[in-house]
Amino acid sequence: MSRKTGTGLGTPLASGGAMTSLPRLLFSEAGRMIRSRIGLGARPWMRNREVDLLLDVLALLAPRKCLEIGCGFSTLFLPRSLSPDTSWRALETDSAWQVRIRGKATRQGTTVELVGDSPAEILEAAHRGAPYEFLLIDGGPRRQLIESSDGLVSEDGLVLVHDANRPGYRESAIPFDHRESILDYRRNLPRGDGGFLVMGKWNFSAAFDVEKHQAVFRCLERAGPLLSRLGVTI
Ligand SMILES: C[S@@+](CC[C@H](N)C(=O)[O-])C[C@H]1O[C@@H](n2cnc3c(N)ncnc32)[C@H](O)[C@@H]1O
Repeated sequence: MSRKTGTGLGTPLASGGAMTSLPRLLFSEAGRMIRSRIGLGARPWMRNREVDLLLDVLALLAPRKCLEIGCGFSTLFLPRSLSPDTSWRALETDSAWQVRIRGKATRQGTTVELVGDSPAEILEAAHRGAPYEFLLIDGGPRRQLIESSDGLVSEDGLVLVHDANRPGYRESAIPFDHRESILDYRRNLPRGDGGFLVMGKWNFSAAFDVEKHQAVFRCLERAGPLLSRLGVTI
């Protein structure tokens, strides 16, 4: 797997320009807010800054084998950025939701599987087919998945845990030396959705501009809590 090397804050990381600069990330975040207000487009159940982070990781890794736990519009949207021969396997425990997303997942190489909802069944299904070069944990027993994820990901892969703003996940027994949290003001809200924990067996922060993404998330530190008091979560 070829890996693209990165530079500093605000600089497009990949030589081919596949990764996004800080101004573009901010523009993209503003665009998401407008689109979501006017109800346009089926996007992953994530903030735009989170989708942008995932797209940057995918551009860096150019993975051939991906696993997503907890399917959704992310299952339809994210693999579009990947080579057509990259497999994207999504596991889902909600049968109606699995049927709905599977019906829309027309990309060759994307599969959406229904699995039993006990932690043992989810872990067993996840480990079948491992290791993966990209693992997105956005459902299931996140803590247990985090704790066994060294067996799920390849030496040069990465694990991303969504909703790391919630207390608990970052305190898991993380089986990797390399980890970064990319969080925002929602870590202080009762539900604490959103945010990412990024983990791997290699020093990815030398190649992936974590600070650039942290800067985008931090931009909301003042406005976010104020707006959330008015019932608007951004
Ligand atoms: C956070 S969502 C996963 C979303 C997906 N990874 C995405 O970003 O689009 C976690 C779980 O919520 C459940 N779910 C049920 N109804 C849903 C809906 N309308 N949209 C998204 N997830 C739904 C599914 O079981 C899903 O795995």
